[in-house]
Amino acid sequence: MIPVSGRFAKFMMNPPATWRRLRQWLETDGAFGVKEVPLAAAVAAALRTGTVRSPLAAPVVASAPGLIGREEIRPPEPVVSYQSVSPSPGAGIRTIIPAATALPPIPPGDIAALESLPPQDQTARLEQLQRQAEAELSLYLSDIATKVVFGEGDANAALMFIGEGPGAEEDRTGRPFVGRSGQLLDKMIGAMGLQRKQVYIGNIVKLRAAEHDLETGRPKDRPPTLAEVALSIPWLHRQIEIIRPKVIVTLGLPAIRHLVGETENMSRLRGQWRVYRGIPVMPTYHPSFLLRAYTPENRGKVWSDLKNVMAKLGLPG
Ligand code: URA
Repeated sequence: MIPVSGRFAKFMMNPPATWRRLRQWLETDGAFGVKEVPLAAAVAAALRTGTVRSPLAAPVVASAPGLIGREEIRPPEPVVSYQSVSPSPGAGIRTIIPAATALPPIPPGDIAALESLPPQDQTARLEQLQRQAEAELSLYLSDIATKVVFGEGDANAALMFIGEGPGAEEDRTGRPFVGRSGQLLDKMIGAMGLQRKQVYIGNIVKLRAAEHDLETGRPKDRPPTLAEVALSIPWLHRQIEIIRPKVIVTLGLPAIRHLVGETENMSRLRGQWRVYRGIPVMPTYHPSFLLRAYTPENRGKVWSDLKNVMAKLGLPG
């Protein structure tokens, strides 16, 4: 047992909002390589081993908008099962996203070893997958995540971009990367000599992750929790299996971490090829980071990553 005393005991007595925030924070990667603090690590370890139970252990239906339900703390399970607690979609009760202590495993085997798929079948299968994803994930819609943002682009694309998840504008339109980050991504794609419609753009999570800001009362984006990633990522694995890109570019830390299970921070990962089921993956900075830190140095790093991708694809430099 982990001794429960001092600051930790005080934390355990704290009100639900604090608990929820810390739980959500613990389940995220932090922005661009932020490390765990020791207290958080102790709490995470205690939750993992089941030596401490959440004071809010009983699952309840979320009543506050944007609340990810209180979750039963269970021993780690390799695969998360998704069980609806909502009587039916649209019944006015938001379905709770179940707790997750691990992501579903990456499907085995290289994509190149799969049976070949004619281009028209790729398009049809991707459309079918989108319909399925929209039907299943719409159970989890709320006043914050109002649309399933599946992804868009060429089903036969040689190049696929993967970001973190939809923001306000993406949620409003149901399309990935259409806000300010999306405009910058479009410029990056243009600089590679390509058009947006020639690539495929997806995200790790398909539902907007945000919570109501207590001061403004408006939704404020936050990194997705592990439970939210676990809910969406199987759809991404299936998208990649259908599209079979020659190269993947991940945008930002959560994308590369969750796609290939990396634990390094962004400054070490950026620019270094990784592999996902035999497909070369280039991790680079997220456009929203570039917008915040629009320095010649950061722009140069991203451009160098994109030039590596162009070389790999045989695009003129
Ligand atoms: N940021 C992302 O990671 N994805 C989007 O679709 C939009 C912004």
